[in-house]
Amino acid sequence: MPTTVFTIANQKGGVGKTTTAVNLAAALAEQKIHTLLIDLDPQANATSAVGVEKQEGRSLYGPLRGEGSALEMITPTAIEHLALIPSEEDLAAAEIELAQTENYLMKLRAVLQPLRDSNGYRAIIIDCPPALGMLSMNSLAAADYLLITLQCEYMALEGLGQILRNVERLKTANINAGLELGGVVMTMFDIRTRLSRQVVDEVKQHLPDKIFETVIPRTVRLSEAPSFGQTIFAYDPLSPGATAYRNLAKEVIGRFGLK
Ligand SMILES: Nc1ncnc2c1ncn2[C@@H]1O[C@H](COP(=O)(O)OP(=O)(O)O)[C@@H](O)[C@H]1O
Ligand SMILES: [Mg+2]
Repeated sequence: MPTTVFTIANQKGGVGKTTTAVNLAAALAEQKIHTLLIDLDPQANATSAVGVEKQEGRSLYGPLRGEGSALEMITPTAIEHLALIPSEEDLAAAEIELAQTENYLMKLRAVLQPLRDSNGYRAIIIDCPPALGMLSMNSLAAADYLLITLQCEYMALEGLGQILRNVERLKTANINAGLELGGVVMTMFDIRTRLSRQVVDEVKQHLPDKIFETVIPRTVRLSEAPSFGQTIFAYDPLSPGATAYRNLAKEVIGRFGLK
């Protein structure tokens, strides 16, 4: 089975990228799909959310500057079928250093190739920083599919055009001709507000075949879990947030033929 690489990117912060990367990855693992989560955000929120301590020299920073292989950075998690490549603060330097190298958009693609070749993982999920900088752009150049999370709030669609234009540019420039928008995940849906429903309807009109049926509810349990270094499935497996991410995983498995 080939490896399918998903990047969760969006220049906005606080829209549920990391929460979705972590819990979608864990939900795929729960379905016995060998999954690798890559934390590409120097803030390392995804790393701590799966209960892994940050460690100097343990991230893609080295491999991106030609030192060592991504394979050496793979770290087990407490979750069966889920491995992690952690992040560390040093990764922030990659934003600057990448910009000064040749073929700067192609670095991550090359770094991930041994992971694809290893056939060790059916799915790779990359959690990106909240900016369309070098790291996010490299993830777009390396991925098969972009997943976008949108918060069910005012201005949800703001910035969507910018990232979709970047996808088109990478395709037409032949940097990643195969890149596709894989789907849009609506997060932090608040059943008590009419606004949430309106935002979902609006996105449905714009991207009818991209929006996932599953909508992630706003629940405090999802925001609490990371402070315990746990996914929602360890922290509160029967909560609405856990159910939602399980349903999203089923949709992802179906849409991309992961099983
Ligand atoms: N569905 C949700 N319900 C409640 N809080 C959420 C939900 N999704 C994310 N959060 C919280 O919102 C904040 C931003 O989410 P996060 O996933 O870190 O976004 P991003 O990675 O896009 O910056 C975090 O504090 C997170 O715990
Ligand atoms: Mg994040």
